[in-house]
Amino acid sequence: MISRILLALALLLSAASVVFGDYREEFEKGFLTKTWSGEQPAENFCIECHSSDAMKPELLTIAEEWKASWHARHKIACHDCHGGDPKDAALAMSPHRGFVGKPTPAEVPDFCGKCHLGIVKQYWDSGHGKAFRASGKGPNCTTCHGSHNIQKAHIDIINEQLCTKCHTYDRARTMKQALFLTEKKIGELEKEIDRLKSEGVFVDDDAKNLFSIQAEFRTLFHSIDVDLIKNRTDEFSARISALEGRIRNLFRELAYRRNFSAFILLVFAGLGATLYLFSKTPKE
Ligand code: HEC
Ligand code: HEC
Ligand code: HEC
Ligand code: HEC
Ligand code: HEC
Repeated sequence: MISRILLALALLLSAASVVFGDYREEFEKGFLTKTWSGEQPAENFCIECHSSDAMKPELLTIAEEWKASWHARHKIACHDCHGGDPKDAALAMSPHRGFVGKPTPAEVPDFCGKCHLGIVKQYWDSGHGKAFRASGKGPNCTTCHGSHNIQKAHIDIINEQLCTKCHTYDRARTMKQALFLTEKKIGELEKEIDRLKSEGVFVDDDAKNLFSIQAEFRTLFHSIDVDLIKNRTDEFSARISALEGRIRNLFRELAYRRNFSAFILLVFAGLGATLYLFSKTPKE
């Protein structure tokens, strides 16, 4: 009789470990696909030589700045922007290996735009792009983002110190206000998705969805067209609300799962107690 109860218990336990096994697997899947968990680019000659004593002191900070950048995290290294061959120390900076050197200010937008296609298009069509092309008086990408220490974009790039270099802050302020609410909502959803991920919930599709909404929304800034931004904000609000609904549901499911785990634990505790009492019952 006891052996049968033990067998039943063993079966139950193995079933439970499958439940927890899934949970763990999902957790790891969520964790390992997080963008920031990607490995750093392998050591290469551009970085080695540019960080060495051989480098001119005024250029030494570049590798350090780059290492702290959003690009470094996403494995965009020196040669991805400047060309050249990071695996061959002698010919690393040879034009025959695709090295293009340092872009002139006028070349910067297309230099960055070979990867940021949507943005460079918005930019050239904007008041800034047109002024930059006509007279060099508009800002280019590096005026606002820097070149090596480029960080994840944020609405706070729009600030009085930067935006009053060439004109008054009025239009910049209006733009920031128009962008603020949507940006705030996106930031909150990002945190909630991260929280769900750390709880082991599989939210990759939602993360991707949010990422593409965010990317599209942020491209919009570069038009510096206040009316356009105001008009399109409604459309973005609707898309964000839909995603918000899904996230709420996932939180509800998570709460349910927690209760379920607690329930399973209780069942085990009950079973354990029964088994204990049973084993104490005197045998005839
Ligand atoms: C063996 C050392 C060495 C290697 C390897 C190396 N560099 Fe350089 N690089 C230098 C030095 C030294 C300078 C400064 C030259 C000067 O200003 O006289 C320089 C300058 C540069 C410049 C500025 C050029 C300009 O037009 O002003 C860029 C951009 C650059 N390197 C990128 C790279 C990239 C990308 C790689 C890898 C594909 C690389 N470097 C590999 C030593 C190196
Ligand atoms: C996101 C693209 C990007 C990446 C990645 C990048 N650079 Fe640059 N780099 C630029 C731009 C744009 C300029 C020109 C504007 C400037 O001087 O700030 C530049 C300029 C330079 C210069 C000339 C600076 C001067 O003052 O003359 C050097 C040297 C250089 N880069 C080296 C590197 C090295 C080494 C790496 C990797 C550690 C690297 N860059 C990674 C975009 C990039
Ligand atoms: C070889 C392709 C490539 C080039 C060239 C390049 N970038 Fe990027 N950039 C990326 C990738 C990949 C990411 C990371 C994915 C992302 O966040 O969109 C990124 C991210 C960024 C971000 C942060 C985006 C965010 O999500 O907040 C900014 C800002 C940025 N790049 C600006 C620039 C500027 C300015 C230049 C030129 C000096 C430049 N990039 C050149 C590929 C590139
Ligand atoms: C390097 C100089 C420079 C910087 C820095 C700069 N701007 Fe401009 N901006 C211009 C020029 C030039 C124009 C076109 C002439 C004008 O309308 O004043 C312009 C126009 C504008 C316009 C009107 C566009 C239109 O179509 O009517 C807005 C809005 C604007 N800028 C916002 C900003 C914001 C926001 C920042 C800071 C993130 C900024 N600017 C930083 C030079 C600059
Ligand atoms: C006048 C300042 C300014 C200029 C010029 C500018 N940017 Fe931006 N950029 C911003 C601001 C501000 C944001 C963030 C907007 C937001 O959060 O809504 C941003 C966002 C971005 C992003 C993030 C978008 C995403 O996918 O999340 C990238 C990438 C980027 N810029 C690249 C560029 C490139 C490439 C150029 C040149 C062609 C450029 N920027 C020119 C201010 C500027």
